[in-house]
Amino acid sequence: MTLRFLTGGESHGRGYVIVVEGLPAGLRLPRERFTSELARRRRGYGRGPRMALERDELTFWGGLRDGLTTGSPLALSLGNSEWEIWRPAVDAESVDVEAAACRAATCPRPGHADMAGIVKYGHDDCRNVLERASARATAAWTVVGVVAGLLLETVGIGVREAVDSIGGLSCTRPLCDEEWDRAAASDLGCAREEDEAALVERIVAARDEGDTLGGTFVVSLTGMPAGVGSYAELDRRLDGRFAAALMSIPAIKGVEIGDGFRLADRPGSGAHDAIVRDGRGVRRRTNRAGGIEGGMSNGEEILLRAAMKPIPTLRRPLDSVDIRTGLAASAHVERGDVCAVPAAAVVGRALGAWTAAVALAEQFGGDRLSEFVERVAAFRRKGEIFRE
Ligand SMILES: Cc1cc2nc3c(=O)[nH]c(=O)nc-3n(C[C@H](O)[C@H](O)[C@H](O)COP(=O)(O)O)c2cc1C
Repeated sequence: MTLRFLTGGESHGRGYVIVVEGLPAGLRLPRERFTSELARRRRGYGRGPRMALERDELTFWGGLRDGLTTGSPLALSLGNSEWEIWRPAVDAESVDVEAAACRAATCPRPGHADMAGIVKYGHDDCRNVLERASARATAAWTVVGVVAGLLLETVGIGVREAVDSIGGLSCTRPLCDEEWDRAAASDLGCAREEDEAALVERIVAARDEGDTLGGTFVVSLTGMPAGVGSYAELDRRLDGRFAAALMSIPAIKGVEIGDGFRLADRPGSGAHDAIVRDGRGVRRRTNRAGGIEGGMSNGEEILLRAAMKPIPTLRRPLDSVDIRTGLAASAHVERGDVCAVPAAAVVGRALGAWTAAVALAEQFGGDRLSEFVERVAAFRRKGEIFRE
């Protein structure tokens, strides 16, 4: 079975439409799981005023009956509560000329899709680009991540995330179960209370200076059976898939798996994970590989880490050029965030879940949820010679 999704829609448009195809029938999708995850994506110290205004109005259009997937494409929409305010400027069929002029963005923002987008499509208003390039689309990906997470739960796979650093200030690692839970509940995505005050101070200072911040976050997947993914072909490698997914989140500029970049500085004897046999079966002494070897899960916790650049829209804008006049000008300013690392971490969790679900669905198939669950369980049993 192939699991795939498509989204359409724009940041200030009527909303996003989402179609997820390839889900097995019989998967329960409780609305509250979507509501809480969408709320977590809007969270975070350093988010812009829009977050207080945004309502993620979720509607199910098809593929779900009485809370259970039917096997038909799951069709959803995520309405935009600000649509009526923006409608005159961005309406699909006819815009009000004055309103559109008011909302025009003619000075591309460095670090955004604006410049390359207008060159590519021949626009003279960056709004035609930025409305779709906006990270608001990550709300739609969060929805898809909830669906994937619920599918993974049926086979005992858990996905969680935590903020690892903001503006160069690192949080403490590694994390125990309670700390992952705290990170999930924290507005800063922060696993330990003692780290929080310094992070807030850093964000407030950046905001006061009209500046922005980036940071890093980690995503963990537990319970993944060994042998998912493949070394056989480039596009089936699980590490490549996770890296591509996280790297595709707007503003993510680096991804590592396990000890990642730090492995490059170590000798081989300090870079790999010895295989040992003890009372718990055959296992690894360490997890520097982050749960993936040879493009496949190896049964250990999968650990992914992503680096987010600082938000590119600055209240004190960088230099740009007005594309209509050709004159030097300050870059366009669009209302936005000072720091969105906690939100990006939630999106990272969503895409981590999605990537794992796609790989599992491809490997095990099943039109009914029971088939999928049984096949994963059977595969796990075969691997249990290593677990005793
Ligand atoms: C959750 C989230 C929120 C974001 N919020 C903003 C924002 O408010 N303002 C902004 O300029 N960029 C924001 N970004 C980053 C831009 O969307 C991103 O830098 C831009 O689309 C260019 O893509 P690139 O950085 O991948 O090249 C956000 C990114 C994420 C993941």
